[in-house]
Amino acid sequence: MSGRMFRALVVEETGENKFERSIKDRSTDELPGGEVLVRVQYSSLNYKDALSATGNKGVTKNYPHTPGIDASGVVEESSAGEFAPGEEVLVTGYDLGANTSGGYGEYIRVPAGWVVKLPEGLSLRDSMIYGTAGFTAALSVYKMEEHGVNPGMGEVLVTGATGGVGSIASGILAKAGYDVVSSTGKTDQKKLLLDLGVKEVISREDATDTSGRALLKARWAGAVDTVGGDILATAIKSAKQHGVVTCCGNVASADLPINVYPFILRGVSLVGIDSAYCPMDVRKRVWAKIADEWKIDRLDVITNEITLAGLDKNIELILRGGQKGRVVINMK
Ligand SMILES: NC(=O)c1ccc[n+]([C@@H]2O[C@H](COP(=O)([O-])OP(=O)(O)OC[C@H]3O[C@@H](n4cnc5c(N)ncnc54)[C@H](OP(=O)(O)O)[C@@H]3O)[C@@H](O)[C@H]2O)c1
Repeated sequence: MSGRMFRALVVEETGENKFERSIKDRSTDELPGGEVLVRVQYSSLNYKDALSATGNKGVTKNYPHTPGIDASGVVEESSAGEFAPGEEVLVTGYDLGANTSGGYGEYIRVPAGWVVKLPEGLSLRDSMIYGTAGFTAALSVYKMEEHGVNPGMGEVLVTGATGGVGSIASGILAKAGYDVVSSTGKTDQKKLLLDLGVKEVISREDATDTSGRALLKARWAGAVDTVGGDILATAIKSAKQHGVVTCCGNVASADLPINVYPFILRGVSLVGIDSAYCPMDVRKRVWAKIADEWKIDRLDVITNEITLAGLDKNIELILRGGQKGRVVINMK
């Protein structure tokens, strides 16, 4: 083998429903085909990474596998004209870290069509504090605004607010001038959310109605839901006339207990968010906003930097719903 050797987290299937994680040496010869070889400097931890790292076959079919749906770093080799060695880039989503060797290795090789040049105004580390979670948060705000919401229209709700997507959505909406109300199961983390600029913090219970009523008191001009289930249903039933609710996650539940009345009586829109296969033109526009007018001033309050060796305990934490903000992995 003539490839470069590198360190990577490797998840192996050791028995029926048994998976083990360890840090191993790998060779770039083992990486899949693709036009761009990137020396990874930072990656991040998302809920989907924790699923891949613990053997969830809905995310990763074949093991051994190196997870990591996010990576930022420097182009080492490129056969694509638009990327030159030495250039700083980021990759989030597509198949990276799902069934393609991911950012928890010091190298990734990917198709040029997955690669985004690092936007001016962001460092490689910043870009991974955002990562897929932050990009998803920003895409949710982008879609909400595309459907007509603006800061003058009233309060907006963010659910799962101390999590990766929720904390960054809270920060971006506050930065963009919205009156943000964040709902969380961790009410002891109120200060973190206030530091991000939110106006009010409410408990998960206060954001959840299980009365079965079709419509609730109208409060939200918009909502970014990251958890699904009863909380998402409550947000939709509490949206104002022509309110817009985005839906990206299912940590609470994949079910949506609701009927059609919010849609046909209040004209509420429910907008689905898929960050992984977001088209490249929208992707670049959203990253440009993240790096500029939506850049959160207090990224430090939501950042926990670790190395590969620290991943294990953070994987367990995120699976238990205990994640606060973003875990960024220093791969340098
Ligand atoms: N569609 C997409 O493109 C896309 C992209 C990225 C992520 N996602 C999905 O979005 C969701 C959030 O991802 P993430 O990376 O932000 O995960 P995360 O960091 O684990 O955050 C999830 C947050 O949800 C809340 N939560 C946890 N368990 C809950 C429960 N049983 N009921 C209600 N709330 C609960 C917690 O916040 P509080 O304690 O503050 O309530 C938790 O911190 C995941 O389902 C993920 O798969 C989707």
